Amino acid sequence: MSVSPNSEENMAIDSYVENLVKKLTLEEKFLLLANHAEGVYFSSTPIDRLGIPSMEMTDGPLGVAWHSSNRNCTRFPATIGLAATWDRSLSQLMGEALGREVKAAGKHLLLAPGVNIHRTPLNGRTFEYMSEDPYLAKEIAIPYVRGVQNQGVGACLKHFAANNQETNRRTSSSEIDERTLHEIYLRPFKEVVQHANPWSVMGSYNKINGKYVYEDIQLLRRTLMDDWGFKGFVVTDWDATKYMDDAAICINSGLSLEMPRPHCYKLESLRDAIEKQGFTEFRLDDVVRRFLRMFFLTGIMGPNKNSIDVSEDITGNPDLARRIAEEGMVLLKNDRGLLPINLEKIQKLALLGPNLDVKLGRPQYGGSSAVVPPYEITPLEGFTERCQGKVSIVNDPSDAELAIVFAGLNHDKGMDAESKDRESFDLPKDQVELIKRTTKDNPDTIVVLISGSPIGMEQWLGDVPAVLEAWYPGMESGRAIANVIFGNVNPSGKLPITFPRRLVDSPAHSVKGTRTYPGDKHLRVYYNEGLNVGYRFFDTMNIEPQFPFGFGLSYTHFEYENFRVNKTKLMGMKDQLITSVDVSNTGSLIGSEVIQVYSNQKQSLVQRPPRELVGFEKVSLEPGQTVTISAPILGRDLAIYDVKKHRWRAATGEVELFAGNSSRSEFLSETIVCCEN
Ligand code: BGC
Repeated sequence: MSVSPNSEENMAIDSYVENLVKKLTLEEKFLLLANHAEGVYFSSTPIDRLGIPSMEMTDGPLGVAWHSSNRNCTRFPATIGLAATWDRSLSQLMGEALGREVKAAGKHLLLAPGVNIHRTPLNGRTFEYMSEDPYLAKEIAIPYVRGVQNQGVGACLKHFAANNQETNRRTSSSEIDERTLHEIYLRPFKEVVQHANPWSVMGSYNKINGKYVYEDIQLLRRTLMDDWGFKGFVVTDWDATKYMDDAAICINSGLSLEMPRPHCYKLESLRDAIEKQGFTEFRLDDVVRRFLRMFFLTGIMGPNKNSIDVSEDITGNPDLARRIAEEGMVLLKNDRGLLPINLEKIQKLALLGPNLDVKLGRPQYGGSSAVVPPYEITPLEGFTERCQGKVSIVNDPSDAELAIVFAGLNHDKGMDAESKDRESFDLPKDQVELIKRTTKDNPDTIVVLISGSPIGMEQWLGDVPAVLEAWYPGMESGRAIANVIFGNVNPSGKLPITFPRRLVDSPAHSVKGTRTYPGDKHLRVYYNEGLNVGYRFFDTMNIEPQFPFGFGLSYTHFEYENFRVNKTKLMGMKDQLITSVDVSNTGSLIGSEVIQVYSNQKQSLVQRPPRELVGFEKVSLEPGQTVTISAPILGRDLAIYDVKKHRWRAATGEVELFAGNSSRSEFLSETIVCCEN
């Protein structure tokens, strides 16, 4: 069920909500604003007198979370792997599958997706977010949210906003200038709100410029609600209001639901605040109304009351999980065409490494997004299945034609895990040694990285002919990796994040000291790099990354020509033009390619990064096939945030558009002129 903001259905919902609000006593309204049952973490307070049940919530971005469901559900690939597919329709399919599983688990709201920008490769939650680029993040998040909500389940866009590290996440303040805040950090939220209409938004733990979002009337009430037109409700991150006690400011800012227990919304604080006229009943009704809409949108209440059969069997979505995993894997290096491995041509394959036989779907493992699937195929299991009767799996690299080291990270604290950032940018020492030893014993060694964030490779990359970034591939991990390694699937994933050579090359770490990461002694984190996040920084500073944003190899070859635009003038933010390019598969295997379009506004009155992603399309081509790929470019994606007027305005002047297959590829280009209409 998808309800557009002005539909008749929407008007009917508004009137049901209105009726209910009229019937609620002041005390009942207060009760609705927080969960009051001890030991209950994912349910809202029911109001039995009016037949309002609990709203049931569940994490998280990788599937229905273990800790909020007693079912084993599909463990999907990590969000960064989904984004690496650059495939909007796969994202929608994942959203729909998640929606169905949430419903079958008897829940109403999925606490996902997370669209925080990758600012530092050390962020422990990089795996749960989409990209360093706001355009890619919103293009993947919009269909995800639509997919979830098409199933009558609410999505919760999180964590609003500028929650870009786990170190001191509850107390640090992200110090960001207004333009950067809007153009980089708020932009995916704004776009998803305006184009997918999420039924809820989760605030973040951190402060922004000294204020928690829940007390920031400007950010929540004016920007999110009034300017962007957000109609849903705001929920806190879990215990995010722990250090706050001002009920009035939270009501006035627009916070509807405090979870998992009251801090600001303790009953006595609410009574006291309304008595002292800290907030009006008009304001209170607004936050209550926003929350109650959710009950009708999901069919918890109302004429379309959903009869969820929680005894329904969840068969899960392993095939979809595997497809997303396969499409998101990024082939980073493939010297001598070592991959794919032809099973007919070898007798022995050596498999090694700490991630060879690890199941990652464990209770609480990695934080709130942990999903325990009904089964999980490890790389060893997946490869054993494929090699049976054909190739012997051994563990001595000198005794085999080829060796594969399954290296990377895991969800231990200090690696890819919530509540703590990564302790190191590099692989653990023993893994580096293992890779070096293996390549000495067998120069035909492939490294498969299972990780959710970029890894420093300087120490070993030169020794290794082939590297595949598999991310966290989910419950079908071993089978998905085997399909790519043995060539049943031609890799087509592209990096949604820059892989730096050294940590100091990346924007948050380029300045000595702690000011830009993880924060000074006052816990202020200065986003001094401004707009130059990710590839924008590498391009501006002319730093060669290890692997650039948008990069990924294939087992086939593609050529591009004839980049063109259907018009050369773009009239304002609502206008759009179509770019086209002829792409040919000049290799001998079927494969998919992602055509990326970047913009550069040369003569802008304000600084603009040298290249910014403004469009992309993914296409599958047979060997020898040529197709014309079209990618629309929207005026609003070229726009600038005007700090004098505190609003977005269209780009004006000449803009060069570049088409290529990474942020650093050979580009074809076209110039257009942008005007304010
Ligand atoms: C996380 C959220 C999550 C919530 C509920 C918090 O610790 O930051 O992402 O949705 O817990 O589990």
